Amino acid sequence: VAESVAFAALPTDKAARYRELLPQLASLVEGEPDLIANLANVTAALHECLPIASWIGFYIRRSDTELVLGPFQGKVACVRIAFGRGVCGTAAADARTLVVPNVDEFPGHIACDAGSRSEIVVPIVRDGRVVAVLDLDSYELAAFDAVDADHLDEVARLVASLAW
Ligand code: SME
Repeated sequence: VAESVAFAALPTDKAARYRELLPQLASLVEGEPDLIANLANVTAALHECLPIASWIGFYIRRSDTELVLGPFQGKVACVRIAFGRGVCGTAAADARTLVVPNVDEFPGHIACDAGSRSEIVVPIVRDGRVVAVLDLDSYELAAFDAVDADHLDEVARLVASLAW
């Protein structure tokens, strides 16, 4: 039986929610060598923790020029994103976290879901190389901030430590 990521009651404080989530994520992936299974469970746990996110998922680097859709929670999404394109491709090319409070103001934003209003993308960096990005979208403007960036960076470090 899979251990569930259970929030008895979701703390209203976002930072507190992330603090509860992080050890749960670590135990979810502990001892499991299958990357796809681990990435899938990470997106599911994040989805439970962050109801403000309409879409949560990974884009995985499959070549030096392209990211390809990985495990996610949410609506059907764009499959391939070129490095340097959109929020995901820019975060991957620059190896830095991008918080976009209003996607309509981000040049080249790729609208997989026309309802998306804001977004955060965090690179997964392994041995100095971006191997994937973690993308979260929301139907609300400015859904993500520095609290998300800081904690998702910890999630990214955990994910980077998996068997890639
Ligand atoms: N909006 C993203 C594309 C990915 S989806 O929204 C799931 C971007 O501009 O990179």
